[in-house]
Amino acid sequence: MAFLEMRGITKRFPGVLALDRVDFEAERGEIHAIVGQNGAGKSTLMKILGGAFSDYEGEIFIDGKPCHHPFAQGFPCCWCCRDLSGTQPRSRFDRR
Ligand SMILES: Nc1ncnc2c1ncn2[C@@H]1O[C@H](COP(=O)(O)OP(=O)(O)OP(=O)(O)O)[C@@H](O)[C@H]1O
Ligand SMILES: [Mg+2]
Repeated sequence: MAFLEMRGITKRFPGVLALDRVDFEAERGEIHAIVGQNGAGKSTLMKILGGAFSDYEGEIFIDGKPCHHPFAQGFPCCWCCRDLSGTQPRSRFDRR
């Protein structure tokens, strides 16, 4: 069993199924990149791990123990996001 396990994570916003039975696992010290198109649910998955949302379906285990609200239960979560598309944001004043 991995140090962190997320099983069948499902999260709905009004009218949107943001996460549909997502499984994710990681061992201590590992660094993972979560890649997907805009709106795929990357941030939502990390926000669940970081404690922003506790109204999800599925299970999270830390070291084999059920942990519904990881951040509140002391799980340190750090994540960052990066747009790898290579495009720069353009304003309406951009003439290119
Ligand atoms: N607070 C919210 N309220 C309603 N819908 C939301 C909310 N947060 C995310 N969503 C919706 O959930 C889906 C997943 O969004 P999320 O932000 O997790 O995707 P993402 O993969 O991080 O996208 P991006 O690459 O644009 O950052 C999208 O359809 C988004 O519109
Ligand atoms: Mg995001």
